[in-house]
Amino acid sequence: MLSIEKKLNLKIKNIFQSLDFDEKFAFVKPSDRPDLSDFQCNGALALAKTLKQNPRDIGQKIADSLACDNDIDSVSVDGPGFINIKLNSLFIAQNTDEMAADGRLGCTKTDAKKKIVMDFGGPNVAKALHVGHLRSAVIGESIRRTLEFVGHDVISDVHFGDWGTPMGMILAELIEKDGDLSKVKTYNIDDISNVYKQANTRAKEDEAFKEKARIITAQLQNGNQEYVDAWKHLRAVSVAAVKENYDELQAHFDLWLGESDAHQTCKEIIALAEQTGVSEVDEGATIIRLPQTNKPMPPVILVKSDGGVGYQVTDIATIKMRVDNLKADEIIYVVDKRQSLHFEQVFKVAQMLQIAQNVSLEHVGFGTVNGQDGKPFKTRDGGVMNLKDLIEMSKEKVRSSMPKAGEVQGYGADEIEKLVSEVAMAAIKFQDLKNTASSGYVFELDDFAKFEGKTGPYIQYAIARINSILKKAEEMGIKPDCVVIDSPDERTLALRLGAFENIVNRAANEKEPSIIADYAYQLAQIFSSFYNVCSIINAQDNVLQASRLRLAKLTRDVLIKALYLLGIDAPEKMLKAND
Ligand code: ARG
Repeated sequence: MLSIEKKLNLKIKNIFQSLDFDEKFAFVKPSDRPDLSDFQCNGALALAKTLKQNPRDIGQKIADSLACDNDIDSVSVDGPGFINIKLNSLFIAQNTDEMAADGRLGCTKTDAKKKIVMDFGGPNVAKALHVGHLRSAVIGESIRRTLEFVGHDVISDVHFGDWGTPMGMILAELIEKDGDLSKVKTYNIDDISNVYKQANTRAKEDEAFKEKARIITAQLQNGNQEYVDAWKHLRAVSVAAVKENYDELQAHFDLWLGESDAHQTCKEIIALAEQTGVSEVDEGATIIRLPQTNKPMPPVILVKSDGGVGYQVTDIATIKMRVDNLKADEIIYVVDKRQSLHFEQVFKVAQMLQIAQNVSLEHVGFGTVNGQDGKPFKTRDGGVMNLKDLIEMSKEKVRSSMPKAGEVQGYGADEIEKLVSEVAMAAIKFQDLKNTASSGYVFELDDFAKFEGKTGPYIQYAIARINSILKKAEEMGIKPDCVVIDSPDERTLALRLGAFENIVNRAANEKEPSIIADYAYQLAQIFSSFYNVCSIINAQDNVLQASRLRLAKLTRDVLIKALYLLGIDAPEKMLKAND
């Protein structure tokens, strides 16, 4: 099916053709002034410029043709030459019927399917996931689901941080503590992260220890068997721990590769850079100087003077692997925007080495989660907030506003806990995703889990409410049928539903989940106003009953899909304390 916007674009295109105007300008967009129009076409302005004619005259010609179309109620040319279009309600109603009958809710699959590799998560061995990892997982997963829904072939890779100096530090600390590495297999994730913390503190005070860790890192990377064996255990335990975290966040990874998997390819990259004369030796290190831009662009260090390879080379090598082995057309990194210089350097080198020809490389940088003081979010005692603790805190909040096990029929301890978890995750994720990815936000401790306001639970509640309306209607034998637009509220709701495809495509193109979050919130509000005025069960006749029921059902389905694209579950029913 074609959405209203696409149908309108076709109409405009035909008109442009018949008037011999350049089709490049034949586009409509949802109106900025919904009080005046449903859609607008601003093409007359740009077109007039190229034709050196009066934009109002051009606009009027287009408007006159549009006015002959039965699907259009009225057209006006306003201001310097904006064409404002108001649609016929019958046209909107028919479109809504088509959408209700369409399994993809009016969202056509892209005809430019790409293989997209997504790099998000980025956890490190031996470190518990903290609040800094939240955004990468939440934003990354939403973009992943959206791109997949649009029809792309998406492969997500967690890109585990398992190969740098921290590895040598842990091994050095273990040797310091136990004399050797014989006990390493008895260490669980808590032990390992404690050892890592101790290693960090020691490295700050003890130069000799730091040196030892550096040497161990280099030996590990060069295949020292004892170190490799110990490292394998550290890695496996860490992967198992973060998997649990990501499962709870419902972030899906197709690949669990890490920096270490790029080791061989790093050597190829270094050789390639030497052969092509891209690299040079500088004070014992092999570096690549980058073309200077309007900001400082430090060189990339391929091989450190001690022979070790760093974070930048692994990322460059990983690009080569993703292009050669996975046949990526596009690679997207959802990583803290404080790493943007790193990605600029890495992408530049990929281009200089010609390892990613015709592949688009994009860093979707996000801002930090802040506390009330505007600084990165901390625990009350000033430490880094663990993701697990943050989730538990959110659950505690939700639990307190819900009935206890056994208070509501059919809700024992397990059912209540499942609901608590679904609502708590919705609260955390929505609070994150309602903000544009690139800006930071203040973690709101009081309002984020409320059932009112711009929250995840509010939208879950709106869905559950429609579910109960649908159930009641079904019990009364009412069936959804053709949409009839009888009142302004029905019209507004139907039009907004019709915009879903545009919203999904924009979110996918801009890699911006907040577009979907805004839409879901707005749609839930529009439905609420509609339902206040337009009763379903008490509608004046069967035709209206059936039409409104279809609108309600479609709203529910679109809201569920929108939440799905945000990585949020929609419980069938919601409970409040004293329900
Ligand atoms: N492990 C890194 C860190 O903690 C993030 C990895 C991001 N992804 C990447 N391909 N560099 O900073």
